[in-house]
Amino acid sequence: MSALPIRIKGQARRSLTAAEILEITRAREKSLSRLLILYVTTGLAFMLLPGTFLGVWNLLAISSHRAASSVSAGWVQAHGHAQIFGWIGTFILGIGFYSIPKLRRLNPFALRAAWTCWTLWAAGITVRWLTGVYQWHWRVMLPVSAALELIAFLIFFSSVSGHRPQESGKESLERWVLVVITASVGLLATLLVNLGACVYLSARGSSPDMPAAFDQRFLVLETWGFLVPFVWGFSAKWLPVFLGLRPIRERWLLSALAVNSLGVLIALTGSILFAAIALSGGILISTWALRLLEPTQQAAKTKGGHQSFPIFIRLACFWGIIAALLGIWASFVPDSHGIWGASRHALTVGFLATMVFSIGQRILPAFSGMRLLFSTKLMFLSLLLLAIGCFLRVSSEIVAYQGCGT
Ligand code: HEM
Repeated sequence: MSALPIRIKGQARRSLTAAEILEITRAREKSLSRLLILYVTTGLAFMLLPGTFLGVWNLLAISSHRAASSVSAGWVQAHGHAQIFGWIGTFILGIGFYSIPKLRRLNPFALRAAWTCWTLWAAGITVRWLTGVYQWHWRVMLPVSAALELIAFLIFFSSVSGHRPQESGKESLERWVLVVITASVGLLATLLVNLGACVYLSARGSSPDMPAAFDQRFLVLETWGFLVPFVWGFSAKWLPVFLGLRPIRERWLLSALAVNSLGVLIALTGSILFAAIALSGGILISTWALRLLEPTQQAAKTKGGHQSFPIFIRLACFWGIIAALLGIWASFVPDSHGIWGASRHALTVGFLATMVFSIGQRILPAFSGMRLLFSTKLMFLSLLLLAIGCFLRVSSEIVAYQGCGT
């Protein structure tokens, strides 16, 4: 290995020996793994207490009063925000930072940006949750939380946008990267709208809760406009290898993305039926593009995870389609709170959480310092319980909330 001319902080520019470069690279890899573990544990912490615990609490209140309106909108929104931004959003930022080649180079600034981003992001989400649940100084804290989240994301965005095509040795951007960039734009739009809404509420609102009509549209933006494209991007990158799929139909994937984005824009205008039709079209096209339901060309690579995980990935895909179709049904039914709730959880628990549980348990141990999964049986159990819970939730929410069970 040839000597590399480099400037180390506080020292004159000098050439490093091969052994020094190896040593620095090892230390760098360790810091990156530590960083990823921090993001992942933070995400899991948000998922467990502010997310799932509050979700279960809300559900117990709803079932004991037999009324969906018996829990405060603030608590429901605090649960949704913790799950979507606190859990999945934190995972995405962590994996994004871990995957940037720039962080693997010897530039201490890039690593510092990742730590700063974590601090602001975690602070923003914590403040938002406390504001939603306790309403403490909410006129100040609500916009502050949204601003912290936005600044954290801008730091992430400026780090990731340094990822140039030549770094991966290719002439043009790979298609999955384009999909992830679109998802990042969706996240940016979500955080901007969130900040605007929080500033508005702080100046004119009577509580920190988003009004129901606005919240419905905002939920489409944050789920279909940001999370779904992220899952498609990561699926295009990992699933052909893990599941032994035939090469994905890249142009169709970009078409799915375009139709999905159109659906999100239509939803923002308030035309829910047309939006639901476009979102259903997008998810059907993406399934065709990813070739998830077609015969594979190779055996799935299940080593490192439970052998059943390809089945759960396909189940997730099925829940995504169900979520979109329930959206079409809900837009025909007046007062369709239960069908919307079922559609939302088919998407968030059935599609997104199943994908995160499957792909996450497959890749994260290796990323966190080449570890092995603690137990493949527990992986199977977690996916099985998630699938059963999702089925019970989606089916019973329609029956219970739409008044069919009384
Ligand atoms: C144990 C699991 C969960 C339980 C018990 C639960 C419970 C609830 C309840 C009771 C509501 C109120 C509205 C309704 O009943 O439909 C709700 C809304 C919501 N949940 Fe969940 N949930 C769970 C998991 C998740 C997950 C994993 C996500 C996302 C990744 C999520 C995202 C949301 C969102 C976005 C809302 C709507 C918030 C709003 O109206 O602004 N939930 N959940």
